[in-house]
Amino acid sequence: MAIRYTFPAPSRATIFASLLLVLVHSSSSATDNGKNTNTNRNTKVPSSDLDLLEFPLNLEYFEAEFFLHGSLGYGLDVAAPNLTGGGPSPVGAKQASLDPLVKDVIEQFAWQEVGHLRAIKNTVKGFPRPLLNLSSESFATAMNMAFGKRLSPPFDPYASGLHYLIASYLIPYVGLTGYVGANPKLNGAVSKRLVAGLLAVESGQDAVIRTLLYQRAKKKVYPYGITVAEFTNRVSDMRNNLGHEGLTDEGLIVSRERGAERKTAGNVLAGDQDSVGYARTAEQILRIVYGSGDEHVPGGFYPKGANGRIAASYYVPK
Ligand SMILES: *[C@@H]1O[C@H](CO)[C@@H](O)[C@H](O)[C@H]1NC(C)=O
Ligand SMILES: *[C@@H]1O[C@H](CO)[C@@H](O)[C@H](O)[C@H]1NC(C)=O
Repeated sequence: MAIRYTFPAPSRATIFASLLLVLVHSSSSATDNGKNTNTNRNTKVPSSDLDLLEFPLNLEYFEAEFFLHGSLGYGLDVAAPNLTGGGPSPVGAKQASLDPLVKDVIEQFAWQEVGHLRAIKNTVKGFPRPLLNLSSESFATAMNMAFGKRLSPPFDPYASGLHYLIASYLIPYVGLTGYVGANPKLNGAVSKRLVAGLLAVESGQDAVIRTLLYQRAKKKVYPYGITVAEFTNRVSDMRNNLGHEGLTDEGLIVSRERGAERKTAGNVLAGDQDSVGYARTAEQILRIVYGSGDEHVPGGFYPKGANGRIAASYYVPK
């Protein structure tokens, strides 16, 4: 017996009414704030917001590739080739030896990052994936810098779930401080909504990573005999030093003066004296992710520099 579909076809009146709604909606928000509007991609985004909205793609690409490869063994080239914009494949990324819980969580983060890339690219034109150096050596170099000496054997982010979480501690927090820093500079409502939404999930990821690490804060990371808390404190200190603009970062166990209301040394989440999230500028972020402490000197995880107008304004492309 044939199945009969009983959904009524939309009437002309319904279609007309929907079209009208779309038109009314876009024309009212196109004049949002009365600022210049960009005809490039999305008439709802003031041109003054474009560079600020596309800059975070640099970090979202890093996170997408690191989390996809780490949990699944493949990256955007397989998972969402459209989102690469034809940029080069990352160097040295690979599947990590993860325990089931960490694998499950990181795979969820990976797909969230795919969504974040799409959300940004649906709002602004953006740019192609930058070259990313996600090799073990690249993480080992960052970790040696954090400790001010060569760790032996070199730190390998892909060696275990714990190593991978420590490596993950390096980056998402940098991205979320960038969203806090960008927010007050945005003019359009659509831009603010996007950045608040990205900040919400990035902060959540950071909280999950920090909580998983906090559970093992006093555990010694094999084979270094150095605790998890010490790793996080060293990485946070390094980021403070590279950023050059004071305290914007805190590890998992701090002096009481830095804990919430100066009442606790446990520091599962980082925040300022009022427990408000720290902000970073794009320049501070570049200094950190390049590992050079200088936005004019690309390197580290971005051997050829980050992409987009903000980053490119500081270096001559190689
Ligand atoms: C990728 O791009 C093609 C061609 O533009 C399009 O048909 C397809 O729907 C896109 N896929 C995704 C996942 O966006
Ligand atoms: C990746 O980083 C490592 C460690 O700094 C370096 O030896 C290697 O040459 C880098 N690869 C690329 C393609 O930049």
